Amino acid sequence: MWPQADLAQLAPLLKLAPRAELEIGSGNGNFLAAHSAAHPHSLVIGTELKLERCRKCARKLAAAGAGNGVVIHGRAEQVIGWLPPETLDAVHIYFPDPWPKRRHRKRRLLRGGTVAQLAHLLRPGGCLHLVTDFFDYYLQAVVLLLLRPDLEVDRDPALLPAAANLSRYGPRLAELGKSMLCVTARRRAAVHGNAEN
Ligand SMILES: C[S@@+](CC[C@H](N)C(=O)[O-])C[C@H]1O[C@@H](n2cnc3c(N)ncnc32)[C@H](O)[C@@H]1O
Repeated sequence: MWPQADLAQLAPLLKLAPRAELEIGSGNGNFLAAHSAAHPHSLVIGTELKLERCRKCARKLAAAGAGNGVVIHGRAEQVIGWLPPETLDAVHIYFPDPWPKRRHRKRRLLRGGTVAQLAHLLRPGGCLHLVTDFFDYYLQAVVLLLLRPDLEVDRDPALLPAAANLSRYGPRLAELGKSMLCVTARRRAAVHGNAEN
């Protein structure tokens, strides 16, 4: 597990890595461990709010022999504030907590501010992948992503990343016959608008 206090040391590694990816809300680490093991040349950083789940992530990374994967215990909104701009090739968000009640929506991870931060963290050509089974969350995310001129949004269901099946929730939902919604947002190489926010 990577201590939050040492986040500053992650920045130079991110710049040196041939490829760098971030997973937000890694849960028990199913995706984090499998994806890190399958992409040994990628630095894969997971963030998870709950300590016990981080420990499980760390154990799964060790069991998979994935030395290129790390998990940071903390709130993703804080962690992304520490990462240098234009260093990520991919951001993975699989089945974020939906906060379905209207009064709780402000707790959702994907809000205007986080979408802007994540867009700035992506290298040109880098992609944010979101998969959720909550239509309302999906709609909110798509609108926020479409509002950014520096992102090219694709909602083709065929783009459902195979990665989502590596997570804990993906196969469970598939078994229950629930539909999954996915959106991919690619950071454009050059922006002809103002995306300062
Ligand atoms: C529904 S689970 C999905 C876990 C995993 N992505 C999967 O598909 O199996 C959402 C996870 O996100 C974590 N989480 C929620 N808010 C977070 C935040 N702000 N920062 C980091 N992790 C968060 C939760 O603790 C939980 O483990």
